[in-house]
Amino acid sequence: MGETVMEIRHRPVMPEEVMTLAAADGLVVDGTTGEGGHSELFLERFPGCRLMCLDADAEIQKKAKERLAVWGDRVRFVRGWFDEVFADWQGERPRVVLLDLGISVYHFEESGRGFSFRGDEPLDMRLDGSAGESAAEAVNSWSEAELARVIWTYGEEPLSRRIARRLVEARQVERIETAKQLADRIWEAVPPAKRHGRIHPATKTFQALRIAVNGELDRLERVLGAAFRVLEPGGRFCVITFHSLEDRAVKTFFREVSKACICGPEIARCQCGGKPLAQDLTRHPVVPGDEEVELNPPSRSAKLRAIRKLRETRRDA
Ligand SMILES: C[S@@+](CC[C@H](N)C(=O)[O-])C[C@H]1O[C@@H](n2cnc3c(N)ncnc32)[C@H](O)[C@@H]1O
Repeated sequence: MGETVMEIRHRPVMPEEVMTLAAADGLVVDGTTGEGGHSELFLERFPGCRLMCLDADAEIQKKAKERLAVWGDRVRFVRGWFDEVFADWQGERPRVVLLDLGISVYHFEESGRGFSFRGDEPLDMRLDGSAGESAAEAVNSWSEAELARVIWTYGEEPLSRRIARRLVEARQVERIETAKQLADRIWEAVPPAKRHGRIHPATKTFQALRIAVNGELDRLERVLGAAFRVLEPGGRFCVITFHSLEDRAVKTFFREVSKACICGPEIARCQCGGKPLAQDLTRHPVVPGDEEVELNPPSRSAKLRAIRKLRETRRDA
């Protein structure tokens, strides 16, 4: 029998690769639990592990709680932004930290918060709807230059300026309050010859606004150091990214902690201690195979990187 709409559920990306790189007993922190796909795999595969399941979004966390209830006290849930949870960490240190960035199929299909250009829904896009500026507030108040910058930087949209100009023009006539209104204004901004490409012309702008509204890149920059500090020596840190800026941030951080010496060229003799803080487990990012991409098209832009923490400081044994 085919999958009905009710049964659509986010498929964990690169399940086998993640389970191989992050195999562990002890405490596993799933920093982006979503509906709990990766968490469930850890619980099934590694009987000695316990899960701490974080998510910024209370609604999707309810779904994960229902799904993972059968695992009893091997699982506990914390609602919050991962960068803030790791910055305030107290207590047992994890053996594994997994971050699978971005949003879930649930957000596009069911949340009703305007993540998809296909839905006629209020334009909100916040993961934590209790705080911060919504996407509607952003598109109705940011300057044209700021909109163009965000759409270009986080969406890599070559028509960012045209789109920003059209949004600013349109909002003077009528506020942009729904995802459909936004998608229609973007459609109008795009030259007719470019409206029927491989992806819908609104795809990149919607992605850019979501990243901006949730502060996704700033949070990623902050969580890398914070989670690495909290991780127990010997523990593993795995990150799945979906955007070149995210991947660059992870690659840079992982390279830095995996270097033996960080003294500058002006220092004649190493003073930092000379020992790497981590071992890079994926010199090149791991990407999904053709079969996975066919089965789960949203996985196509995923990149997985992983390190093993070796020590707290470059002088430790
Ligand atoms: C791609 S989904 C995770 C899917 C999950 N790994 C699975 O297999 O089902 C990412 C989840 O992380 C959450 N999220 C995104 N950024 C976050 C952040 N900075 N802090 C906490 N949760 C975040 C989103 O709400 C979403 O539920």
